[in-house]
Amino acid sequence: MKVLIVGGGGREHAIAWKLRQSPKLTELYCAPGNAGIAALAERVPIQAEDMDGIADFAVAKGIDLVVVGPEVPLAMGIVDVLKARGVRAFGPDRSCARLEASKSFTKAFLERHNIPTAKYKEFYDKDELLAHIGQFGFPMVLKADGLAAGKGVVIAENAESAREAIEDMMGRRVFGDAADKVVVEEFLSGVEASMLCFVDGSTIVPMESAQDYKRVFDGDRGPNTGGMGTYSPSLVFTEELEDQIRERILAPTHEGFRMDGLEFRGVLFIGLMITESGPKVIEFNNRFGDPETQVVLPRLKSDLLKIMLAVTEDRLAGQEILWSDERAVCVVMASGGYPGIYEKGREITGLDEVEGDALVFHAGTEAADGSDGRTRLVTAGGRVLGVAALGASHEEAREKAYRNAERISFKDAHYRKDIGAVADAP
Ligand code: AMP
Ligand code: GLY
Repeated sequence: MKVLIVGGGGREHAIAWKLRQSPKLTELYCAPGNAGIAALAERVPIQAEDMDGIADFAVAKGIDLVVVGPEVPLAMGIVDVLKARGVRAFGPDRSCARLEASKSFTKAFLERHNIPTAKYKEFYDKDELLAHIGQFGFPMVLKADGLAAGKGVVIAENAESAREAIEDMMGRRVFGDAADKVVVEEFLSGVEASMLCFVDGSTIVPMESAQDYKRVFDGDRGPNTGGMGTYSPSLVFTEELEDQIRERILAPTHEGFRMDGLEFRGVLFIGLMITESGPKVIEFNNRFGDPETQVVLPRLKSDLLKIMLAVTEDRLAGQEILWSDERAVCVVMASGGYPGIYEKGREITGLDEVEGDALVFHAGTEAADGSDGRTRLVTAGGRVLGVAALGASHEEAREKAYRNAERISFKDAHYRKDIGAVADAP
């Protein structure tokens, strides 16, 4: 089978690494990919948002399956464009992609189907929103309705910072059109967890849980990022909690898709808050998480390509999906300054000193030719590498991930030191 992966981050590197293990795979391409993906797949110089370019390439090469990694091309309708050209794709179509592309669409879906989530209200007008500051008390949760690269959520501790956030969103328009509509939510306290699920018309199957770290600095300080590290499984999951999630969230979500005529096929990523009154949905994403994928896929024992094909044909219910009992931890190495302004082009060294079975997933990397004719690996993005490791215990995986991250360096590299730091980890 010929497969084309769309995207070029750590998530896509992990997908490429896993698909490579499939005996069904013959050729693997990635558009646009990165320097790490180049070792596993042929890179194609087409941007992920260039839907016609991707479709032309897929048709010309006779691609059997396109796997779409990021949310933006999904929201733009790349799966519909490919389908119209006769190309099979893994990922939801445009109408289902609204589950990530519009927060208010998802909130209405959750409310309509009685799925536990925070109370909310939506606003189109700045003055009206200003008049409702503190409506659900403080902290006040404000969300740009549209896609904002994971940065469109503000948790305002008091009225003054809420006013400032509203001014940013609806006055200065720092998120552009994404904040034409703003969703205000009740603040939920608890422990967060990410649950990725395979979904097709026949069923919804959760993968192993994961924990993400969104803030840039240790102790959950600083601004939100795309994700600074992750581990799997989540340490708060119990069988009882999993049953609750299945009954209160997964089953009604799948039934809701059916009732609303949403033919979701792909990965539904459920952001959960485990509160005192049980699990609640914070958000839906319609794709694999980044960096969650870097710890979830290494634990998947079954053939990912086989599962993806089954999803595109509504045969997921009959698939065997097995997971390893090993624990996984991934530390993201980022460029100093990220998620704000940062420099690119810094040489990355030490990768040859990493232990053979540690997994280094590339995110923002490129190969650059030096003046001495030597090809160097250089930084090319905010998140640069994800250093992941498996272990028999959480602690073992954690120590291994950090031990290997320490061997890699580039100027101004920054990574959190507290990923997976839990006092009583098994
Ligand atoms: P989202 O992009 O919707 O996942 O929000 C980003 C982050 O903001 C989440 O991972 C949570 O940490 C936090 N957050 C979002 N909504 C709420 C809420 N209603 N209550 C508390 N925290 C929230
Ligand atoms: N790690 C969060 C996300 O992929 O959106």
